[in-house]
Amino acid sequence: MRTDWATLPEAVTKEVADRVGGSHISPAATGDHAEIAATVTGTAEKVFLKAAHSDFGVRSLRFELRVSEAVSGSYSPAVRWHFEEAGWLVVGFEHCDGPHADLSPGSPDLDLLGEALAALSKKEAPDVGLFSPKARLGFEHPAMDGDTLVHTDLGPANLIVTSGGLRIVDWAMATKAAPWVELAMLVPWLIGSGHTPKQAETWLAQQSAWTTLDSSVLDDFATNNAEKWALKSSQNTVKPRVWWRVD
Ligand SMILES: Nc1ncnc2c1ncn2[C@@H]1O[C@H](COP(=O)(O)OP(=O)(O)O)[C@@H](O)[C@H]1O
Ligand SMILES: [Mg+2]
Repeated sequence: MRTDWATLPEAVTKEVADRVGGSHISPAATGDHAEIAATVTGTAEKVFLKAAHSDFGVRSLRFELRVSEAVSGSYSPAVRWHFEEAGWLVVGFEHCDGPHADLSPGSPDLDLLGEALAALSKKEAPDVGLFSPKARLGFEHPAMDGDTLVHTDLGPANLIVTSGGLRIVDWAMATKAAPWVELAMLVPWLIGSGHTPKQAETWLAQQSAWTTLDSSVLDDFATNNAEKWALKSSQNTVKPRVWWRVD
């Protein structure tokens, strides 16, 4: 849940201004997990700043910081600096300039994503206390276990197409799992971007982690995932109000 920049204590905003050289703030238009998420521009640099104050927010941002430092590859924005002040954890990331990826059928951004997925599938999970598949998804299957770093949230809002290539942001849900888990979690995003299920599967079949996967494992994943989201959406349904007449 986002908090307004104005709620940051002066000690924090001063420290940020000192680091970037003054500050022009532009809050992020997408995402809603981080308490503060904004582009901060100064005379010295332009960073993407995330900050947290609540217990949960600080734990989550601290985790994201650890993962981001460990990932620090060409697909992930570098961590420029971080500090703690007045109960806030503040992280300045390399700013990625560009639009969100377009994942619709035929989009050239799909090629960029395909390259990134192939590279990620070879990336060994860093030892930074990543989520297990069960902790991340709420269900498990032995085939989901693995040693790969899996982002698990590769929706367009977390994919930025820069002039230097695709950047993947928001590593707050990073998981240690088998590489196909990343691909399976991408299916709803592809369908949401206009692919038919068949088109999504055809596109994913370019990845070796997909073609070597036993179809019964994938069926099990799809069933569990669908059940999880059906349950979530039934719990979120606004229940009609019940009125009692007390005469
Ligand atoms: N390093 C970055 N550079 C530029 N924009 C970013 C960067 N990181 C995130 N963003 C933008 O800000 C939005 C929210 O950031 P994100 O890290 O995804 O926060 P949340 O955890 O709230 O989803 C992203 O959807 C993206 O558009
Ligand atoms: Mg996000």
